[in-house]
Amino acid sequence: MILERKQRFNVPEIRSRMEQVSAELGTDTFRGQQIVEYAELEQVYSGAMREISTKLENLDDEFQLKDRHNPIHHMECRLKSINSTIGKLRKRNLPLSVNAIKDNLYDIAGIRVICNYVQDVYKVADTLSQQSDIEVVRVKDYIKNPKPNGYRSLHVIYSVPVFLSDGPHPTPVEVQFRTIAMDYWASLEHRLRYKNGLEDEAKERHAATLRDCALQLATIEATMQNIHNEIGQPPVA
Ligand code: GTP
Ligand code: MG
Repeated sequence: MILERKQRFNVPEIRSRMEQVSAELGTDTFRGQQIVEYAELEQVYSGAMREISTKLENLDDEFQLKDRHNPIHHMECRLKSINSTIGKLRKRNLPLSVNAIKDNLYDIAGIRVICNYVQDVYKVADTLSQQSDIEVVRVKDYIKNPKPNGYRSLHVIYSVPVFLSDGPHPTPVEVQFRTIAMDYWASLEHRLRYKNGLEDEAKERHAATLRDCALQLATIEATMQNIHNEIGQPPVA
């Protein structure tokens, strides 16, 4: 029995969100039949996100039982807002159409998987990537190769089939795997990046300090990982 039914995919509601975005961005948005198609698209992406997050929960349960350690600390799922989707289409000079989204944007459905240790990140990501019913579309390993600003995370785009009445719809989901330390670093860096009213000098100074913090966090994480490995897991009761 479904106790709480989401009203997210209701066309009048999406139409009114579109109107709001149009006013906010001062731009054109989807109209007419495209709004219906956009609602269908959101529904499929939401299903894809659910498929992947269920797989991750199952893996976490299995590792808890086998290793007596939960590799996943927590997960965050989000569907890209209409606002950011339209903003991204415009930025990349793509047409305002559902097909342009399908063909070019792979991060409409996004899951952030926050793990305890770097080893957990690879263990969960590798195990998920091996599953036979999903496909790895793209991997960006910013843990092995951090960004110049210090950003670390493992980004994998998966394609997962969502089965609807007319058959399977292969759908991309962007999964960002990271540790707790990487996550809290990224939140602060994100805040700094979008902070208005800060002098350039202060922004640059903080950015340089954050680069340094990223290096230090990587070292601390490796040290703590060693302690974790040496201590081992508690015995089965
Ligand atoms: P965009 O989605 O347009 O950014 O392009 P992309 O998919 O090629 O980018 P990428 O895979 O490198 O990063 C996508 C997402 O990762 C972003 O939307 C952020 O959530 C996160 N991310 C990437 N780089 C940074 C960074 O330098 N700092 C922070 N805080 N987050 C980042
Ligand atoms: Mg993105």
